[in-house]
Amino acid sequence: MKLLVTGGAGFIGSHTSLLLLEEGYDLVIYDSFHNSSKKVFKRFEKILGCDETYLTKRIKVIEGDIRDRNLLEEVFNYYSSSGDSITAVLHFAGLKSVSESVIKPIDYWDVNLLGTKNLIEVMAKYECYKLVFSSSATVYGSTSSSKITEDHNINPQNPYGHTKAAVEDFLTDLYNSNDKWSFAILRYFNPVGAHSSGQIGEDPFGVPNNLFPFISQVAIGRLEKLLVFGNDWPTTDGTGIRDYIHVIDLAQGHISALEKLLENNNQIVKLNLGSGKGHSVLDVIKTFSKVTGVDIPYEISNRRSGDTGQNVADPSLSKKTLGWETKRTLFEMCRDSWNWQTKNPNGYN
Ligand SMILES: NC(=O)c1ccc[n+]([C@@H]2O[C@H](COP(=O)([O-])OP(=O)(O)OC[C@H]3O[C@@H](n4cnc5c(N)ncnc54)[C@H](O)[C@@H]3O)[C@@H](O)[C@H]2O)c1
Repeated sequence: MKLLVTGGAGFIGSHTSLLLLEEGYDLVIYDSFHNSSKKVFKRFEKILGCDETYLTKRIKVIEGDIRDRNLLEEVFNYYSSSGDSITAVLHFAGLKSVSESVIKPIDYWDVNLLGTKNLIEVMAKYECYKLVFSSSATVYGSTSSSKITEDHNINPQNPYGHTKAAVEDFLTDLYNSNDKWSFAILRYFNPVGAHSSGQIGEDPFGVPNNLFPFISQVAIGRLEKLLVFGNDWPTTDGTGIRDYIHVIDLAQGHISALEKLLENNNQIVKLNLGSGKGHSVLDVIKTFSKVTGVDIPYEISNRRSGDTGQNVADPSLSKKTLGWETKRTLFEMCRDSWNWQTKNPNGYN
């Protein structure tokens, strides 16, 4: 079965693609490489213990922008006319930095919403009606709930979150308009960690926005100190509390969601993918230091625009719907991030 994975070279897309290959799916990976490296595919060969000839039979990599409708059409047309149509799409491609989205809202609306609309139009033309979408816990905005359930208000506080909420509405409207569509809308909490081989991991361009790549780069000496954004949040130690999820648990959540879409037509699910456990920034620093044996210098800085104090999932609906739940602990997340960082001090370069 052939799947299209947009953004399949990125952090979450690459881990999910690897698991999909292991499950026997053949992939078309469509990525602009705006925030990722082609070298990730060489690493797949190492992990899978295969050569390039085998891998190129299983994955076709296309460098392209999701806003390039002509190229997307060419891709769908090629597979449909060769009798090997794309059955479903996992849509990871997008821009993901909350702080950047505050400065560049046009780019975020353009890529995240218009890019998705483009993709959907081409899918409809080639009668591919199943899509797994990367949404985000950011859609919930600030909350007083200790654990967020899927029926919580949707009230994003920043342009990035607005684009994710808008795509969710768009997909819901499509579902209501036509009984062919099936969507799994997955609201990720905080994906971290790396494949246990240390061959693939998160390699953001520039100074990282997320805590784990930031902390890893401080620990390895690539950055001088960690900036902790705010110690005056209404949390136990004043630093932000997040629900961290190991990227392999997250990737497995995608396989379960995809299987659900493949089992039945015409359904829409909106699910939290998180562990249900909250950890403060100081908790993470402590665990990371314990795992690595390295002290992490940090400095408290101002809250970031658009951030929230606490964001923890209630993952029970995902468990009930998909039979999926996280397995990996904060210790394993720190261990695997550190393994990736030490084996690849400069990422894929
Ligand atoms: N990492 C997180 O913390 C997080 C949390 C919630 C949701 N998400 C969402 O999950 C998805 C994947 O996130 P990630 O962490 O793997 O990010 P990432 O930046 O590592 O991966 C995104 C991929 O999309 C590609 N891309 C970007 N713009 C593109 C475009 N216009 N056309 C084609 N490809 C394009 C990038 O090159 C990259 O390979 C994103 O949609 C993101 O918003 C991520």
